[in-house]
Formats: sequence, structure tokens, C-alpha cells
Amino acid sequence: MLYYEYMKNNIENFPKGFLWGAATSAYQIEGGLTNDWSEWEKSPSRIAELEALGHDPREYQSGLASNSWDHFEADISCLKQIKASVYRFSIEWSRVEPEEGKFDEEAIVKYRHFIQRLKEEGIEPFVTLWHWTSPLWLRDKGNWENKQAVECFRRYTAKMVQSLPEVTFWMTLNEPNIFVGKSYIEGTFPPQKKNPLLYLRVYRHLIKAHQVSYQTIKSYNKNAQVGVVTDNIFFDAKDILSKFSAMVIRWWWNRSFLNKVKNNLDFIGLNFYFHHLLKNGFPRPGDNERVSDMGWELYPWGIKPVIQELSRYQKPIYITENGLADEHDINRAWYITEVIKSIKEAIAEGADVRGYMHWSLLDNFEWALGFTKKFGLFSVDRNTWQRTARPSAAVYAEIVKNNIN
Ligand code: BGC
Repeated sequence: MLYYEYMKNNIENFPKGFLWGAATSAYQIEGGLTNDWSEWEKSPSRIAELEALGHDPREYQSGLASNSWDHFEADISCLKQIKASVYRFSIEWSRVEPEEGKFDEEAIVKYRHFIQRLKEEGIEPFVTLWHWTSPLWLRDKGNWENKQAVECFRRYTAKMVQSLPEVTFWMTLNEPNIFVGKSYIEGTFPPQKKNPLLYLRVYRHLIKAHQVSYQTIKSYNKNAQVGVVTDNIFFDAKDILSKFSAMVIRWWWNRSFLNKVKNNLDFIGLNFYFHHLLKNGFPRPGDNERVSDMGWELYPWGIKPVIQELSRYQKPIYITENGLADEHDINRAWYITEVIKSIKEAIAEGADVRGYMHWSLLDNFEWALGFTKKFGLFSVDRNTWQRTARPSAAVYAEIVKNNIN
């Protein structure tokens, strides 16, 4: 705690009502799901790909994940341990609409009960409608490649907003930029296509989906606050050529989606993980010595310029994800403290940041990397489902406690 004492002045006295908490997504924690991802994980080509790399394919199948569907109360007690006033999680579309147009009322009631429990505990639910996974019936129609997906998303949105009236904060989509990049350029996420035309087509449909979903939520709940979640990068340029290319890259990566949806937006959800250095016009990963278990450079101070870039939209900003894979908890407390210091600086210089949700509350299923990476403030024993706080969770709780006003 020595370091914390030293940092105190820089990480306290956040604005009144600032929300503190953590984030997860349904497919990564709930378990027991059947959707486009679960079927892809079990496909012969995926299994062969993993075996060729010497990996055990079972570690790359979400299965029961962190078993949160049956351990909601345990997750709530983790939130209470960090003194959370907000929890970001997502609804799993394939669970609530397993067949097209037929909703599973029991599952919806269970989500509602969970939301009510959060509220009883003084924790504001921040609900994402789509965090990358789709029901099989939508996959079979081509998922987001098919423009009908927009209408399907509208119908799902309408059902959720009507069924979950306690929710004020809705997020339509999680990181459309990452999803299209990984699924249609890099080819590491299903459907593993490398096709720039499909990339643009899916991107266009996601823009439309956000707009339609925004209008739908507002039509059923006048008090709702609706945002989208974007993954923005600090593109750091020193030489003249790089400054120019950084302007173009920032416009495309950080702002092109927001520019299209800014008239249908009450807040921006910002996920921050990356710092890219540009040299001679080309981006490359930054070279700070500290890295996470993902091999990602740790550059917590990058959050400040990224927040400042978003201030042009004049919308409230919530940090909806920020964190690191750090199984042995070597860097997490330092990283959280530095990030919070940078957010405070951004606020002091005029940015309207209203909350911070650490990624992640729990160890969970890290997509194409399976269970190998541990982002949690809490580790999860995948035999007993016991959640155990890592030491950094106590540091975060201390920061939150000292900022409750
Ligand atoms: C995603 C999360 C993911 C995290 C770490 C974010 O881009 O929204 O689902 O686990 O990054 O990779």
C-alpha cells in the first residue's frame, strides 16, 4: 500500500456520483451457451488448427465458462468486495431468443431478477445488448453480412427494453471495430473470412443496427441512456509523416463509427487497451517495457489523450473496459492506479468522464485464446467455481472507497 499512499492525491476526489465498478460479457462468463462461437469452437477445422499448434482444444471451448449463470450471487459478492456502484455485463442473445422470434421468458426473468438484485445492492446495471455472439438461426442467415440482421436486432432490442424496465444504461454493440477487424480482415474470429468487402458491409450493418436499436430503446423508455462501446487506441506520433498518418488512422479507427452514430448517442462507452507508436508513418506496438500476459504493452497514460480525442463529441464518457491479463497480479495494481491518475487528469482538464469499469471482474473465456489468459480482479476455480480476490482487487477497492462521496 506504500505506492498507494504516495499516489493518493492523484487518484482521489473524483467528481460526485462518478461510477466505479467492473465489466464482463455473457459468453465469456455465463456458460452453457449454444451460439455461433460455441459451434465454431467445436468445428473440425478449429480443432485441427489448435492441435497443430500443440494446444488442448478443450481449453478453447467456452463450455461452462465461469459458470456465472448459476453463480450470479457469487458475482454480486465480488462486486461488493470492490465496493462497486456499477456493473457492466451483457445479455446473451442466443439464450433469450434461441429460435427466431421465440423468446425464452424464463431466461429473461432470470436476467431481470439479477438486475433487481444489483439495484438492491446499490449497483447500477450497464447492459450491453450484443457482445460479439449471435444465435445460430442468425448465423445460418449469414449473421451481420445479411442486412436482415438489423431488423432481427431491432426485434431483440424491443423485447429486452420492454422486459427489463429497471435498466437505464444500455449499450447497443460492443466494439464493432474490433469485431469486423478480427472476423473479416485478420480472420481469427468466426467466420474467419478475410474479405475487405464483407468487412465494409458488416460495418455498415452494425452502424444501422446501432441507429435502429437506439431509436427503439428510446421509444420504449424515455429515461434510457443509450451508448455504443468503442475500442480506441492512442496513436502516438512523433515525426511529421507519422503525425499526418495518425490523423487518418485516428479518424478511421477511433472515430468513423462514432461519426456515423453521433446523432443517436447519449454517451460513449470507451474501452482502452492499446498504445501504438507511429514511425515513418506506420503504426507499430509501443515499446514500454512492461507487458501483460497477452504480450500487450502496458501504457496506462494513453487513456488521457484517447479521452481527450473523444471530448469533441460533447457526450458523457464512461470507461466501459480497461484492464490486463495478469495471472500473477504483478502489474494490475500499478496499472489501475496509473490509469485512474490519467483519467483524473483528463477530467481536471475538462473531459466529462463519469465512470470506470475495470475489465474484468472475473477470470473468463478470452475468445480465441480460450481460458489461457486471466483478466480477473478475481480468479475462478473451474472445478468448484470459487471466486478468489487477487491482491490488486483490494487496492482497487481502497481507491473506490476513498472516492465514495
Ligand atoms: C473485449 C473483451 C475482451 C477484452 C480483452 C475487449 O476488446 O470487449 O471481450 O475480453 O478486450 O481482450
